[in-house]
Amino acid sequence: MEKNFYIETFGCQMNEYDSEKISGMLQNLDYKESKDINSADLIIYNTCLIRENAENKLYGKLGALKKLKREKDDLILAVGGCIPQNEEIRSYILDKYPFIDIIFGTNTFYKLPEMISKHLNNTNEVLVELEKNSSTLNENLPTIRKFDHKAFINIMYGCNNFCSYCVVPHTRGRERSRSSEDILREARDLASKGYKEITLLGQNVNSYGNDINSNYKFTQLLEDVEKIKGIERIRYVSSHPKDVGDDFIEFLGKSKKVCNHIHLPIQSGSSKVLKEMNRKYSKEDYLEIIKKLKKAVPNISVSTDFIVGFPGESEEDFEETLDLCRKVEFDAAFTFIYSIRPDTPAGKRTDQIDDKVKHERFNKLLETLYPIFYKKNLTYIDKTVKVLVDEISKNKDDHLTGRSECNRIVHFKGTKDLIGKIVNVKITNVKTWFLEGILTEEDAYE
Ligand code: SAH
Ligand code: SF4
Ligand code: F3S
Repeated sequence: MEKNFYIETFGCQMNEYDSEKISGMLQNLDYKESKDINSADLIIYNTCLIRENAENKLYGKLGALKKLKREKDDLILAVGGCIPQNEEIRSYILDKYPFIDIIFGTNTFYKLPEMISKHLNNTNEVLVELEKNSSTLNENLPTIRKFDHKAFINIMYGCNNFCSYCVVPHTRGRERSRSSEDILREARDLASKGYKEITLLGQNVNSYGNDINSNYKFTQLLEDVEKIKGIERIRYVSSHPKDVGDDFIEFLGKSKKVCNHIHLPIQSGSSKVLKEMNRKYSKEDYLEIIKKLKKAVPNISVSTDFIVGFPGESEEDFEETLDLCRKVEFDAAFTFIYSIRPDTPAGKRTDQIDDKVKHERFNKLLETLYPIFYKKNLTYIDKTVKVLVDEISKNKDDHLTGRSECNRIVHFKGTKDLIGKIVNVKITNVKTWFLEGILTEEDAYE
């Protein structure tokens, strides 16, 4: 009898990438993916620990599943990803939600098929498989990708940076770069299947190769991916400012395929706070990188991440963040309220910022950023941009949604045969978070 699985992925693209592999393995076991949780024989939550609300989301879901689990005797429930990597939280989950069948971590998801068959032989035992720091790079696992025209390729796992607020080095372990041969093989394989856009993924892609003894670094990798016929766009996330070097910036200036967009998380505009965050760059260093980037790629789009309310952040520190927003004029940003995380130095500090102050600062940051995003979007009015078409718009059946090279979301009227193609769209209207336009034969401005 055919079996269905339902998978829900929380957190960053690392988890998305792992979930694509999990789905690939399950389809090999004759499980079919279902979007309806009620019809599933196997439910998987691939979890995130980055902020408290990511954690709470899982608890909410698990609480709601209790009933379904009671009604459906043979339903298998698996929880994996970043949350179970933390021992204390794992024990809490095992204790509070005893109906979970399988627990796996970021380095052990490849064991899921084995765990499922073990579970089917003995349904009474909770199966737990975890590794703190794995050297296994999970090469050659089948992958089911969300799109047929764009794909993620993980180029490295883990993180060495230990920013003082962050759990990722604890949940994902130390930096491990994949071999360039494996990455390029995956990219060529995708190109041969018609994929046009590739996003190279890592917590800090600019430190690619630092853990393997070779001179082959991120810029060389970009150069080699660029040579692959069929790949038309190359993206990469995230770049840590401390590792953005001149050779990389120079290559961005020359490259024909690397998109004119960089995600360069700043976190705070105060050099004092940055130091306490262990980010290893100052506000001035950041501004210098932006200057160089804009010189090399004049129409580069810069997005970033901010944390407001880091312990000890003073009103003056926060004002410096607002000042930096005005100076850089970011094109987009992810904004977060600081959240205490287990095992992190910042979480142990006694000078935590009051919740009310954190929220006030958060709102002020948005009030500063949104008009900037809108103003920058306005510069696209009447310009023609190249859009890689992703899907039918969520709100309008006769509209399509895609991304411009500078990573802006673009909505326009069109038919679904254009999905996966790169088309020219003339921008007629803009909002804070997206552009609207019409299909055109006119040449693109970028
Ligand atoms: N490796 C990436 C970031 C991955 S986490 C980088 O360093 O650029 C994504 C974002 O989550 C971070 O950039 C940071 O802004 C935010 N974040 C991480 N830990 C957080 C915490 N404890 N509270 C609030 N936001 C946090
Ligand atoms: Fe976390 Fe810092 Fe590593 Fe990014 S670089 S994942 S913020 S520790
Ligand atoms: Fe979350 Fe783990 Fe990514 S904690 S942000 S899913 S690395």
